[in-house]
Amino acid sequence: SKGTYEFYMLKEIDEQPAVMRRLSQTYFGADGDVRVEQSIVDAVAESDRIYILAAGTSYHAGLVGKNIIEKYADIPVEVGLASEFGYHFPKLSKKPFFIFLSQSGETADSRVVLKQVNERNLPSLTMTNVEGSTLSREATYTMLLEAGPEIAVASTKAYTAQIAVQAILAKAVGEKKGLQDAKDFDLKNQLALVAEGMQELVDGKEKIDELAKKYLANTRNAFYIGRGVDYAVALEGALKLKEVSYIETEGFAAAELKHGTIALIEDGTPVIALINDPATADLTRGNIQEVESRGANVMTFVGKDFARKDDDVILPQVDYYMSPLLTAVPAQLLAYYASKNKGLDVDKPRNLAKSVTVE
Ligand code: M6R
Repeated sequence: SKGTYEFYMLKEIDEQPAVMRRLSQTYFGADGDVRVEQSIVDAVAESDRIYILAAGTSYHAGLVGKNIIEKYADIPVEVGLASEFGYHFPKLSKKPFFIFLSQSGETADSRVVLKQVNERNLPSLTMTNVEGSTLSREATYTMLLEAGPEIAVASTKAYTAQIAVQAILAKAVGEKKGLQDAKDFDLKNQLALVAEGMQELVDGKEKIDELAKKYLANTRNAFYIGRGVDYAVALEGALKLKEVSYIETEGFAAAELKHGTIALIEDGTPVIALINDPATADLTRGNIQEVESRGANVMTFVGKDFARKDDDVILPQVDYYMSPLLTAVPAQLLAYYASKNKGLDVDKPRNLAKSVTVE
């Protein structure tokens, strides 16, 4: 039930610290060792390329997962939109492994791909929130997201759970392969820091409500920009904002705006800039100046180590690869308040269903 909450979306955003702790309990032993079913770890470790297939928010979680898996498991990853992949299979590697990300486990576009994967007798894993769902039953393996029922149409806690579960798999596979990066990756501690950081962010939600009131109340459009994993979160932030508030929002690689889209920046256009990547933080600051000088109202969500006093949201510092777990929270809250402040039905945006069982 919603309890004292007006909408499930906010309840589900608030539940994220608890989901991170639950995942830590599920996937780590008392000794602190990562615990993933041995057959899954072996099958992934043997593969020469991972294909992640999903739709919508789950696809965006896959884009973050690619960065984490390549870093800690050292396996190349291709992320595909299931709806495209299903009818235009790329040339596969010799030992492919397929991962399906799906909150519901029922998405028709993903089922089309899995059907063909099974026809070719290739190994697959579904990461899903719903035990016994179709994609779970039809795949070789399953890992559960442990996020609890997600009711709001806009996915929030399943997105962060998908990122965390991909990190758990990456660490387990990397360790199995004897990789130093994976052994050094203190994921259990990172998940604890993430849970604490998420709590801090949800406790500070009024600040995000103020930002939504100040910058998003009357706008027709908006942009999210970022580089590296922040680019992936920019895409998700944009989807979240548009699906619940109907503000036309695009997510962009920060440097790419100036190759055309900057033409859309006018006086008062909101731009949300995400900065967590040490390698490109200064460059993104430059991109912020470019849009500010053209009149944009910029909101910044920045990791503590790179933050300046006047940044709007300062994110508790975690590993760069884990930073999407925190950056997502103010992005989700911003979408929530933009929608609620307009008097919209946050949980049931027009034209959308919770699970999309048609192609
Ligand atoms: O259940 P799934 O994760 O397979 O659903 C995929 C998308 O339909 C879903 O993420 C959709 O984009 C949400 N409305 C996003 O908030």
